[in-house]
Amino acid sequence: MKSVFGRVLAMLAGAAGLAQAGAGDTPTFTKDVAPILFKHCASCHRPGEIAPFSLLEYKDAAKRADFLAKITGENRMPPWSPEPGFGHFMDERRLTVSEKATIAAWAKAGAPEGDPGNLPAKPAFGSGWVLGKPDLVVEMPAEFTIPASGPDVYQCFVIPLPVTQDEAVVAVDFQPGNTKVVHHAILYLDSNGQGRAKADPVTRSFPSFGGPGIRPTGNIGAWAPGIRPGLLPEGTGRYLKKGSDLVLQIHYHPSGKEEKDKSRVGIYFSKVPVRNYVGAAGIRTRQWALRIPAGEPNFTVVEQSDPLPVSAKAIGILPHMHYLGKEMKVDAKLPDGSEIPLIWIKDWDFNWQGIYGYQEPVNLPKGTVLRMKAVFDNSTANPRNPSSPPIPVTWGEQTQDEMCICGVQVITETKKELRQVMDMLHGDLGMILGGGGLPEDAETQAVAMERTKKMERMVLWEYDADKDGKISKEELELVPKSNRDRVTLILRVMGKLK
Ligand code: HEC
Repeated sequence: MKSVFGRVLAMLAGAAGLAQAGAGDTPTFTKDVAPILFKHCASCHRPGEIAPFSLLEYKDAAKRADFLAKITGENRMPPWSPEPGFGHFMDERRLTVSEKATIAAWAKAGAPEGDPGNLPAKPAFGSGWVLGKPDLVVEMPAEFTIPASGPDVYQCFVIPLPVTQDEAVVAVDFQPGNTKVVHHAILYLDSNGQGRAKADPVTRSFPSFGGPGIRPTGNIGAWAPGIRPGLLPEGTGRYLKKGSDLVLQIHYHPSGKEEKDKSRVGIYFSKVPVRNYVGAAGIRTRQWALRIPAGEPNFTVVEQSDPLPVSAKAIGILPHMHYLGKEMKVDAKLPDGSEIPLIWIKDWDFNWQGIYGYQEPVNLPKGTVLRMKAVFDNSTANPRNPSSPPIPVTWGEQTQDEMCICGVQVITETKKELRQVMDMLHGDLGMILGGGGLPEDAETQAVAMERTKKMERMVLWEYDADKDGKISKEELELVPKSNRDRVTLILRVMGKLK
């Protein structure tokens, strides 16, 4: 055991980089550092995994001791973006102050190995399905080739799901075919054949950065290295309509060598009837408000949502910006005036975005308002800026465009209520941000019809210049391009297109 004095010294060394650990009490690799690296780093830093080097062996850790101390001291590794104390999440990847101090003191002392007898057993990483045999396993249709270098690749694979009745998904697991290049994966559903229509016939896939490039009809989860799959609470599920395709979006990070991947997905269905489907509420900027001038280092957006029309429970949260994103902070203001922190990411990194699941569901009573502050850096000082020199940036799906959304995964008492909540985030955006979709029955269709009528009123108000109650071709030209397909669809459904 380390003495109290030694621990204090080690903490000082870590916090201020001043003190020297006492002789004889210097942390060693085998006794003090290996347990930390095995627990917090090895899931990614081991041979064949996504991280660029292994941290299982003494020699690999020792030769980068100072670097490890620096990176952990700055909280850059393990990759975990949310600020502590601002929401309590599952699988939080964070080192304690004393763990960071131990690494720092060890590096400072010259990275001694210590007594090999103290070395703990290497961590075991199971190769099977963590939750047991899935009810359904599907695989990418063909091997996909990732080039040796160049920009990251975002590819959507369209995989038919042999599901003959509607199901409720309670968990998904993902087995990357090639852990060196698979960075993360998002599992969208498509029951309209949009993905099939878009896919290349050979790879059955298409490239799409950011969103899935189609309007998904659901979403059954996501995967990133180091995240363990978990089951939704009993009686809760994500709606999977029979005949849907899985649109599996994989983010690949080139490894320096040409690589091939054929990943697999395991899906688990609810064995009990589902009472609560998962949907998404959320908050976003209006598209036209996101106009980020070239060179602007601190473009700040402040938004708040409409009040929640019904009470809901938040089970997870998914902030989304692209490469100019710098900070996002979201909280909930309850009708009684109290404020609940939902998430705060101070140093946004597009490559490490995730769906963050709450340890305990967060109660959001009817009337709660979601509030968001987001900051973008469109200057040359932002190393992730995709444009050099910086260009003016607006809302869009491409790498050089931006987005500003935060989805909040919720469950409600009834399907009708969930439909009402999801409409706050314009349905399809809710799907992209972790909504599960909903069975279409009389209850949900009635709400959908109301919503369509409301949208029709809004569209007519905005674009019906000659006030004849219909939208002509010329009038349609005035609808922003990004919105035109959608507006056309609404008008067609309601018979208001001239
Ligand atoms: C969830 C996976 C994951 C975990 C856990 C993880 N790393 Fe990493 N690490 C990566 C990846 C991937 C990279 C490559 C750079 C990147 O993509 O951010 C990396 C890069 C690094 C780098 C190089 C950073 C640079 O700027 O070149 C260091 C040092 C590092 N990790 C240390 C650690 C330490 C120490 C731990 C544990 C305390 C840890 N990592 C935990 C995935 C991980």
